[in-house]
Amino acid sequence: MYNGSILEKHEPQVATTGSGIPVRDKTATLTAGYRGPVLIEDGDLLEDLSHFNRERIPERVVHAKGFGAKGFFEVTNDITKYSAAKVFSSVGKKTPVAVRFSNAFRERGSADTDIDPRGFAIKLYTEEGIWDLIGLNLRVFVLNDPKILTSFVHAVKRDPVTDLVNSTTLWDMVTLRPESTHGILWLFSPATLPCTMRGLNAFAVNTFKLVNAYGKYVYCKFNIIANQKVKSLTLEQAQMLKSSDPDYYQRDMFDSIAKGNFPSWTLKIQVMTQLEADLSPFDPLDATKLWPEDKYPMIEVGRIVLNENPANHFAEVEQIGFSPANLVPGILPSLDRVLQSRLFAYMDTQRYRIGNNFQQLPINRPINPVRNYQRDGHMTFVNQGGAPNYYPNSFGGPEPSSQAKNLSAPYYVSGYAYEYHERNPDYFSQARETDLTMKVENL
Ligand code: HEM
Repeated sequence: MYNGSILEKHEPQVATTGSGIPVRDKTATLTAGYRGPVLIEDGDLLEDLSHFNRERIPERVVHAKGFGAKGFFEVTNDITKYSAAKVFSSVGKKTPVAVRFSNAFRERGSADTDIDPRGFAIKLYTEEGIWDLIGLNLRVFVLNDPKILTSFVHAVKRDPVTDLVNSTTLWDMVTLRPESTHGILWLFSPATLPCTMRGLNAFAVNTFKLVNAYGKYVYCKFNIIANQKVKSLTLEQAQMLKSSDPDYYQRDMFDSIAKGNFPSWTLKIQVMTQLEADLSPFDPLDATKLWPEDKYPMIEVGRIVLNENPANHFAEVEQIGFSPANLVPGILPSLDRVLQSRLFAYMDTQRYRIGNNFQQLPINRPINPVRNYQRDGHMTFVNQGGAPNYYPNSFGGPEPSSQAKNLSAPYYVSGYAYEYHERNPDYFSQARETDLTMKVENL
């Protein structure tokens, strides 16, 4: 086994094919005579060429450029009155995490310090399955109806004719959709150019619900606040770094963790009762609105510490798949329409981008056993030890959890099916009031 960096000196070992068969030569191809044709018998050459042809998987349709790290989440404050999720069950409890930082719109090879929303996605391996907490450096989103999402992304991405980036399509879209004003102010604020990603504040943007042991819910916003200094690059510094060190954020994070300088963040929630939501002057389920902290104060929950670099970038960062639908009992989605559409979008793209069984990969699988009725498909290697593959059955197959059901906070809905637009749009009050000035300092 080789361990550590490829830049470390290793004791050479016998090279093999993917099937473990010792290879005869790594620099000369099997030919018939010195000038003769290449023989198809050179299985090592054929295997290398065909494997190489399949090395790349589709890049993420958004957030393609990214890097990862691992660490843990530790509860520092008791919030069990809000949520019965076991991940919060006692102060001091630790849960392993894997995270990915990303840029939203530019491609995989783009420069870290491009002006681009920053993503901070956290996979928590809880005893009750995976909880994916996905954040952006923007406190609000640029749209509040998922119908516009694909158009918005098209307007920001490359021109399909010229394959060039242009700013006209973005500003055309933005000026036609005033609800994007607040998010666009965040995007072009210093918050988008942090000095390092260690100093990045992130927000889950959409509203969730927390459900306590009595089945009572509150609405909740998750906020991930950096414990490192939050400072921003100047535009000139960002421009300079684009050419001098396009992987600047990634390098800083990797080096910092490698040197034992572990970054940490405090997870904070804001909560709102249903009554407060009903009386709120803004729609708390609208992704373009933030919850003012003077009315909905930040409540500390715990800390996230990153203390390990990935050992295999492709396996642990490129193939990691986050989904807002990965919520554990005690945390539920709200009726925020953007969030509702995201519940579908992420795993759908991951089935295409990584494969139908992406949840079986070590980085994506939970620490607790998976017991379901799904079987087979490309690259499967788990069949759950011969457990029944149909339900109901008389052979002791897995049963639904009454504990999870008790935490489902049933809600009442009625109404005519119709494409509803906003009734009282106010796109500008919060945009006007939000203080987006941040300290901009030299590196
Ligand atoms: C209708 C709205 C949205 C849709 C349809 C959508 C869809 C997607 C898709 C398809 C991906 C790629 C996932 C993958 O390939 O693994 C993604 C990634 C991501 N999205 Fe969204 N998104 C939406 C809104 C948001 C919002 C509001 C946030 C704010 C938290 C957000 C944060 C992220 C982040 C951080 C990633 C990168 C995850 C990673 O590192 O793998 N998205 N989104």
